[in-house]
Amino acid sequence: MPKTTLAFAAALSLLTGLVRAQDAAPTEAQLALGKTTYMTICIACHQPTGMGLPMVFPPLTKSPYANGSPERFAAIILKGNMGAFTVDGKPFNNIMPPQEAMLTDEKIAAAMTFVRSNFGNTAGPVSPDVVAAARKKFADRKTAWTQPELDAWKE
Ligand code: HEC
Repeated sequence: MPKTTLAFAAALSLLTGLVRAQDAAPTEAQLALGKTTYMTICIACHQPTGMGLPMVFPPLTKSPYANGSPERFAAIILKGNMGAFTVDGKPFNNIMPPQEAMLTDEKIAAAMTFVRSNFGNTAGPVSPDVVAAARKKFADRKTAWTQPELDAWKE
């Protein structure tokens, strides 16, 4: 390939990256995969509505954990949660099992993106790279997160 073509390709991919980073709308394909993943896995506990079940499963509607830090949300899905948990002023004390062995980075990112753009939520999409990085960063972590740990989250 001539040098000019290479330089052009590099500039183009840089430009596409920049445009993509600013584009806050999830793709149809990611939303579709996210819906399938949510409706297969998360639905059992968080319900088709994302409202959860009082006293048992917390809501994902307007949840700071779903809408906030993508790294933290990815970590929640990878490792699960346990112990006393208050969401939207309502108490929970249950266990969310880790999903890291079951779900690929792509499926986790898609499920996150689906949750973040449904159930009254309006947060932006999440790329599989974020999940891959969290998976690597917390590779040695064997236990589920507690709410105090999640609330003190620093990226
Ligand atoms: C087997 C039941 C179960 C499944 C499956 C499950 N969760 Fe959970 N999830 C829970 C429970 C229980 C908690 C709260 C744990 C506690 O009480 O300490 C929780 C907490 C959360 C939280 C933090 C609290 C909140 O309401 O914002 C998020 C975010 C979350 N789950 C997202 C998901 C997503 C997305 C999936 C699917 C990829 C999923 N969960 C699958 C049971 C489940």
